[in-house]
Amino acid sequence: MVESVQRAISILDKNVYQVTLNGTTYRRTVPSKEFYVHQWLWDSATHAMGLVYVDEQRAFDELFSLVSGQWENGLIAQITFNPNEKKYFPGPEYWGTEKCATGEIKTSGITQPPLLGISFAHVFSHTHSKKLQSRLLLEILPKVLKYHDYLKDYRDPENSGLLTVVHPWETGLDNSPRWDKPLQNIKLADIPDSVKSLVNRYRSDDKLGDPRVRPGLDDYYRYMYLVHLFKSWNWDYRVIVKKSPFAVKDILFNSLWCESNEALARVLTTIGRNDDALRLKGWADETRQALRARRDPVTGYFRDQDVSSATPTDIGANTIATFLPLLAEAVDEKDAASTLSLLTDPAQFWTKTPVASTALSAKEFDPLKYWRGPTWPITNLFVIEGLRKYAKSPRAQSIRKELEDKTLSMIDAHGFFEYYDPQNGAARPGKPTPLGFGSFSWSAAIYVYLTYRRKEVV
Ligand code: SER
Repeated sequence: MVESVQRAISILDKNVYQVTLNGTTYRRTVPSKEFYVHQWLWDSATHAMGLVYVDEQRAFDELFSLVSGQWENGLIAQITFNPNEKKYFPGPEYWGTEKCATGEIKTSGITQPPLLGISFAHVFSHTHSKKLQSRLLLEILPKVLKYHDYLKDYRDPENSGLLTVVHPWETGLDNSPRWDKPLQNIKLADIPDSVKSLVNRYRSDDKLGDPRVRPGLDDYYRYMYLVHLFKSWNWDYRVIVKKSPFAVKDILFNSLWCESNEALARVLTTIGRNDDALRLKGWADETRQALRARRDPVTGYFRDQDVSSATPTDIGANTIATFLPLLAEAVDEKDAASTLSLLTDPAQFWTKTPVASTALSAKEFDPLKYWRGPTWPITNLFVIEGLRKYAKSPRAQSIRKELEDKTLSMIDAHGFFEYYDPQNGAARPGKPTPLGFGSFSWSAAIYVYLTYRRKEVV
């Protein structure tokens, strides 16, 4: 295990990318040099959570770079681009976000699950250097809070407590079966040929990775069509949120939003900013309430909602997102037993190497295809931290410990990959290799995080 921690650190070291933009030098970590060669929002938030245990300066640098491309309206983008990197499609030239850029720092135009607040709070509470602590408060916290203001203001205009996401890439779970139905709002025939031909000519994930495990071509047409629409609306989020054909209240995104507000409120209280803490705590409370109402009492699943039309509809897919409300403490005590039973059901999620990202029993389940079945360290981390919240439940704590063990041994045995076969833990079982990209930074960061975190909390 000590050896694996060393290997994890060396992956994080190898994936460092240093760049000078607008006269400032940034040190950031790319998810995988095989394909993801830029800085991703929820990846980097995760990297910082592991890095802080072994290198406080690098955890700071990761966050410092992450907030550097923040838009004037407060958005922190899903991707902050590295210059001159051509491997990834869609690169900076496809987004049309130049007028939103901070000088030389180019970004995509959408966001990603708001793990940043949780990450900031974790990094802050684990940073010993006084100098870095004060830099975190002065240089990073204001931007994280501005990002939260953006999310509340632009993504919850109706003040429902639940934020709206407008692109499957914003959800982080790109081709999850949860989005199959809402994506049908976009008819392939309505997508201009110019958009389709961009995808046909320049799409690269299915060349660098195995096309059998990547999202489908029709998915990519729709992903790029949404980018095309948002660009045509000048990245005006008042318009985008109102008009996007893909608009959902995502359970995973909102659970992270809730816990990020709680985590930031704790930091704000520590530094005596009680009014701000109360404001964020208020947002967390309203989101928790709204999440509770999304639980289907018959199946026990928490349901995302398609809000793209005047009549919102529930989304029926059975996926790992249903366990995220644990992290938001939105699973009532009376319902917790049924959520834990669902989680540990070997016919659904508790496979040999849990947690399957889509229920084994679902018709859409595919053990190798991106978010349609594989086990991902990132979602395991959310389930682990969610279970930790139920400290009074011995059952929740024993499941948590088992999941920590299983996650660490899966990575130990098979290496630091993007995701794993939930039925046997394998990553890249055959060669040439399907199943995700390799030398993956967040799997390494999560390995480090879990190893250290279990020593500090029982
Ligand atoms: N997950 C996306 C991709 O595969 C980016 O956010 O490109």
